[in-house]
Amino acid sequence: MTSRLLPWVLLAAAGGLHAQPVAPANKPSAPTTFRIGPAEAYDVSRLPDDAYGQAVRYGKELTDRTFAYIGPEVKNPKMRYAGNNLACASCHEASGTKKFAIPWVGAHATFPQYRGREDGISTLEERVNGCMERSMSGKALPFDSKEMKAFVTYMHFLSKDVPVGAKVEGQGLPPFKAPNRRADTVAGGQTYQAKCSACHGVNGAGIRAGAPGSATGYTFPPLWGKDTFNHGAGMNRLLTASAFIKANMPLGTTHDQPQLSDDEAYDVAAFVLSHARPLKAHTERDFPARWNKPVDAAFPPYVDGASADQHRYGPYPPLQEKMKQLKDSLMKTSAK
Ligand code: HEC
Ligand code: HEC
Repeated sequence: MTSRLLPWVLLAAAGGLHAQPVAPANKPSAPTTFRIGPAEAYDVSRLPDDAYGQAVRYGKELTDRTFAYIGPEVKNPKMRYAGNNLACASCHEASGTKKFAIPWVGAHATFPQYRGREDGISTLEERVNGCMERSMSGKALPFDSKEMKAFVTYMHFLSKDVPVGAKVEGQGLPPFKAPNRRADTVAGGQTYQAKCSACHGVNGAGIRAGAPGSATGYTFPPLWGKDTFNHGAGMNRLLTASAFIKANMPLGTTHDQPQLSDDEAYDVAAFVLSHARPLKAHTERDFPARWNKPVDAAFPPYVDGASADQHRYGPYPPLQEKMKQLKDSLMKTSAK
């Protein structure tokens, strides 16, 4: 201990520390862009079998086979936190490592962050529970549960080497430019039957991996009906779903080689979202600062006076313009 400290003590005593060309901690620098590594970079099997390695491995397992540990069909009723048999990896593809499929690489460097849905700072644990209550249509995991710790530890492992505040290339979803028209669910239905139904089913119910009740999840996940994300989920927003589908579907698609045009992605997403799905209670409490509410969050209240139909199916550019004006005037009033 002393021998490691000694040179520093001597250096400081000699005034040497001041001579070091260190960047002052409070000086803002341009955020670095971090590139997501190849799959081998996230190989959890090479981690030692210690507490950290075990938590990371369980976190990845929970991500890929959520339904087998905290799904609605698991034996222990107390462990039924998720309300559907999806996996986190149904959307966070490749166990949270695929570019533009909402990867978790760097999540530790970008959380805590301000979130409009809550109009406040959200920690990574709270963000996980956002998906538990909406994408997984279930309930929040206790912060001190083995499962929450495993998710967060796995995300920590995926975030190694990403500096705090860095921009991660391929974070979230790619920007999606919405066609300036109402989405066409009839055209979307045709695209769906031609390019999606072989996997997700003509009725959107997906294809189960085993018998109902067996907690084995899906080979191809359901897109609507009882066993999928609820109406308060991010994926239930038309612009979010269009961006996800264009960059990632049909299965195997990457954002730089999309197989659908903007128009096709927009219409097929609208067709998918036009069907019934589980309802989330109290969505009116979302986005308490109303000018933060995304135009495609299709649940009331609507502060811009536009119809529910327009929030659900567009056209969005006029709504985005309206929200911008509204925000400016609301900000002005609150500044007085
Ligand atoms: C039905 C699709 C879907 C499923 C299933 C899903 N998520 Fe998400 N998740 C999303 C979407 C969409 C976003 C981002 C969009 C938004 O913020 O509204 C997101 C964002 C996140 C983020 C923030 C990522 C970032 O970079 O900001 C975390 C963390 C997260 N999800 C964790 C989970 C966990 C853990 C599970 C499983 C228990 C899960 N999600 C299941 C769709 C899903
Ligand atoms: C070859 C099979 C296949 C085809 C075709 C396909 N998907 Fe998927 N889809 C999947 C799989 C598998 C997943 C889960 C993610 C994974 O495993 O990478 C998925 C995930 C999804 C999700 C997110 C998870 C969920 O349950 O909501 C959406 C939305 C989606 N697909 C929409 C579509 C649409 C729309 C099309 C047609 C344009 C399509 N998919 C075509 C296999 C397919």
